[in-house]
Amino acid sequence: MSARVLAGPPAAAALLADAAARAGRLPTSPHLVIVCVGDDPASRSYVRGKSRKAGEVGLRSTVHALPESATQAELLALIDTLNRDDDVSGILVQLPLPAQIAEAAVLHAIDPRKDVDGFHPLNVGELWAGRPALTPCTPAGIMYLLEHYGVAVAGARAVIVGRSHLVGRPLAALLLLGDATVTVCHSRTRDLGRVTREAELLVAAAGSPGLVTPEMVRPGATVIDVGINRVLGADGKGHLVGDVHPDVAGVAGALTPVPGGVGPMTVAQLLANTVRAAELQHA
Ligand code: GUN
Repeated sequence: MSARVLAGPPAAAALLADAAARAGRLPTSPHLVIVCVGDDPASRSYVRGKSRKAGEVGLRSTVHALPESATQAELLALIDTLNRDDDVSGILVQLPLPAQIAEAAVLHAIDPRKDVDGFHPLNVGELWAGRPALTPCTPAGIMYLLEHYGVAVAGARAVIVGRSHLVGRPLAALLLLGDATVTVCHSRTRDLGRVTREAELLVAAAGSPGLVTPEMVRPGATVIDVGINRVLGADGKGHLVGDVHPDVAGVAGALTPVPGGVGPMTVAQLLANTVRAAELQHA
């Protein structure tokens, strides 16, 4: 038996259609501003993808590209201008930032009502207090994907591998809000396989290619692969692989592919968050 494939694009399309309909009820089209510092090719490519998708669903987007040498003061001054601009609905500062800029100072500076990443401490706190407002895109996108495919969350034993601030931690908060029983594993977890084998819902978000192998998966489990790892194939070309070994498809009940699983959900959720931010500002 091969696992049911939980493809990202149909779920992302449903999320985007809902966001576009909500955007149409606002007085002006929501406007996402993306700030990118430096010329990391992966970051530039992500930013182009986000901006293109915004246009496809009728949102406005602007990209501010600052040089690698930009100072923290310059970036904070730009954020201050964007915070004050009523025509800006959402602000995203693409991470990682160059070493001379303190990430925490930047994330604190963004107006929480425009924080489409959900990384501002106020939004992090509201999420853990059970009052989610703007929540991080990848975890929120995963929750939408699970709902789209009818995967039961309430009462499920969920295990997350990875404790990052971008994925593992906020996803734990969202799954708890969905009444799952949640365990978060990480690089210091003893006997990882013993814990992951308990999971009815297993999320791999460690950034480690092929980390989750078939013997670590409970037969029939739903497995969500958040890994986007670029590895060199036998053909000498770079390609994307997840944190889940391909043989897991023979054990799992359902599995998200890489690419084409969680990735499209993250971009769709960013645009849904931009519409949400615009709604908050018009409320
Ligand atoms: N870099 C990689 N993922 C993300 C993300 O979700 N948001 C931001 N701002 N930067 C990222």
